[in-house]
Amino acid sequence: MNILIIGGGGREHVITSLIAKNPKVSKIYALPGNGGISQLAECVKISAEDIDGIISFVHTHAIDFAIVAPDDPLALGAVDRLEAEGVKCFGPTKKAALIESSKIFAKKLMTKYHIPTAGYKIFSDIDKALSHAALSDCPIVIKADGLAKGKGVTVAENFQQAKDAIISCMKDKSFGASGEKILIEECLSGHEVTVLAFTDGKTIVPMVSSMDHKRAYDGNKGPNTGGMGVIAPNPYYTPEIADECMRTIFLPTINAMNKEGRTFKGCLYFGLMLTNEGPKVIEYNCRFGDPEAEAVLPLMESDLLDVMIAVREEKLSDCPVKFRKGASCCVVCASAGYPGSYLTGYPIDFGDAGKIPGVEIFHAGTKSEDGKFFTSGGRVLAVNAVDDDLESARSKAYEAVSKISFDGMRYRSDIGGC
Ligand code: AMP
Ligand code: GLY
Repeated sequence: MNILIIGGGGREHVITSLIAKNPKVSKIYALPGNGGISQLAECVKISAEDIDGIISFVHTHAIDFAIVAPDDPLALGAVDRLEAEGVKCFGPTKKAALIESSKIFAKKLMTKYHIPTAGYKIFSDIDKALSHAALSDCPIVIKADGLAKGKGVTVAENFQQAKDAIISCMKDKSFGASGEKILIEECLSGHEVTVLAFTDGKTIVPMVSSMDHKRAYDGNKGPNTGGMGVIAPNPYYTPEIADECMRTIFLPTINAMNKEGRTFKGCLYFGLMLTNEGPKVIEYNCRFGDPEAEAVLPLMESDLLDVMIAVREEKLSDCPVKFRKGASCCVVCASAGYPGSYLTGYPIDFGDAGKIPGVEIFHAGTKSEDGKFFTSGGRVLAVNAVDDDLESARSKAYEAVSKISFDGMRYRSDIGGC
């Protein structure tokens, strides 16, 4: 089979590495891919958001199955366009991807179908939003409706921060059309859990749970990032909570999407808060999380491509989805300055990090030139270790990180320590 993978981060690297293990696979193309992916796939310089470019590519290359991994192409309808060309895909349609691309849609869906989430109000008028914020007890959460490269959420500790976030979205248009409407939400507290789940719209199969570390610095300090590290499973996510989530959140969500005529097929990401009142949804994403995928997928024992094909064919109930016992710890090595501005182009020295048993180094922002790797993004590497328990996985991941270096390399030293 010839496989096409859309995207070029750590998530796409772990997906590529698992797809490459399937004996049916003869060739993998990645658009655009990255340095690490280029060792397993032919990378072609077409951006994941260039849907016309992707369609032209499939006109000249025989593709048996495509995996659309990032949010932007899914929201732009890449799956609809590829399927219309006869290319079978893993990933939701544009209509189903709305569960991530409009936070207002997601909130209204949860209200209509009684899925537990934070209280909220929707605003399209800046003055009304500012008056509501002024009258609210902080902290409150300000969210741009649309996709904002992971930067559209502010947890405002006081009115000034709320005001700045509202002005940035609605007046300064920092996120363009994505911030024309906003949500102001009740701030929930509790432990956060990510659950990724395969679903074909009929069956939903949760993967091993995980815990992202979104803030830039140790002790959960500093600005939000795309994610600085992950552990899996999440120690706070008990089997009892998992059962409750299946009953109150997971099944109701896929049923709600079916009733709305937006059947979701692909990987559905549940961002949950374990509150005193039970688990509540913070956000849905219409795809694998990054870096959650780099920690969760290495624990998967079943063949990823077979599961993805079963999702596409709506035969997930017939397909085993098994995960090994044990734990993952994934530490992101980032460029100095990330999530703000940063420099790129620095050579990466991996030492012998990759030789540690159980360690895999997924490339997030790298490029390769003449057999050498250079930094090319904010998040550069996702270093994952799998072992029988979290402590052993954690010490292996940090041992590997200690052998890697590039100019300005920065990482959190407390992944899995909280
Ligand atoms: P998101 O971009 O939606 O993942 O949000 C980023 C982070 O903001 C989440 O991981 C939470 O830590 C936090 N957050 C979002 N919504 C809420 C909420 N209603 N209450 C508390 N924290 C929130
Ligand atoms: N790590 C969070 C996300 O992928 O949205």
